[in-house]
Amino acid sequence: MASPTRLLIVAIDGGAASGKSSTARALAARFNFMQVETGFHYRAITAEMLRLGVRSDDPSHSQRALHELSLETRVEGQAAWLEINGRRPGDEIRSPEVNAAVSHFAALPAVRARLLTYQRSQVDVALAHGFRGLVMEGRDIGSVIFPDAPLRFFLHADPTERARRRAQEGQTDSITERDRLDSSRKTAPLTIPEGAIAIDSTYLTLNEVVNHVAKQVEQHLRQSSAS
Ligand code: DC
Repeated sequence: MASPTRLLIVAIDGGAASGKSSTARALAARFNFMQVETGFHYRAITAEMLRLGVRSDDPSHSQRALHELSLETRVEGQAAWLEINGRRPGDEIRSPEVNAAVSHFAALPAVRARLLTYQRSQVDVALAHGFRGLVMEGRDIGSVIFPDAPLRFFLHADPTERARRRAQEGQTDSITERDRLDSSRKTAPLTIPEGAIAIDSTYLTLNEVVNHVAKQVEQHLRQSSAS
């Protein structure tokens, strides 16, 4: 799948609380790229399923419920947000119930297929809004959604440091258990895509990570404007 040359796609993958969202947000602000947080998509669908009383161990019910959902995008500043049936999901997506269920819904092929189409369609949204780049972060962006993206990063961090970051945000989240489920699922598991630039952020500040990624983006933009 070729990525359109007019838009630079930057893929950032990594485990739970590895700093992907903060890095993507800072990068989007620095370069005026559109930012897409795909964990939000899986969380939003999970919250909706829980609200409808759908269980992740009932794939046919999940599939039927998915058909009823319309997925749209609202762009605010640099961020592109998923709206489900015309509504942007709220704080419920960070609840302990969603934290506990999200990896189970994210393992369902029907959920992933629906979001793959939606996530790839964000290229058109970014182009329509005049952005020169799209930074998308998640677990399978550089491996499945945009395997041809010219810049693909994978963020690591020590589990203790990641738990500290989540606790600082006041969240209850079983990071290592989610990583275990996300890495062991059959469809689009969390993995370091071949050719991705791996960054261990355990002892780095957010600024240092952003500067490291930004340097690669600048280099790419320079090279493509010269050619
Ligand atoms: O980034 P996050 O922790 O908010 O993501 C929540 C969950 O969503 C994560 O545990 C697995 C799932 N996810 C996924 O399977 N694929 C993605 N591209 C992004 C998130």
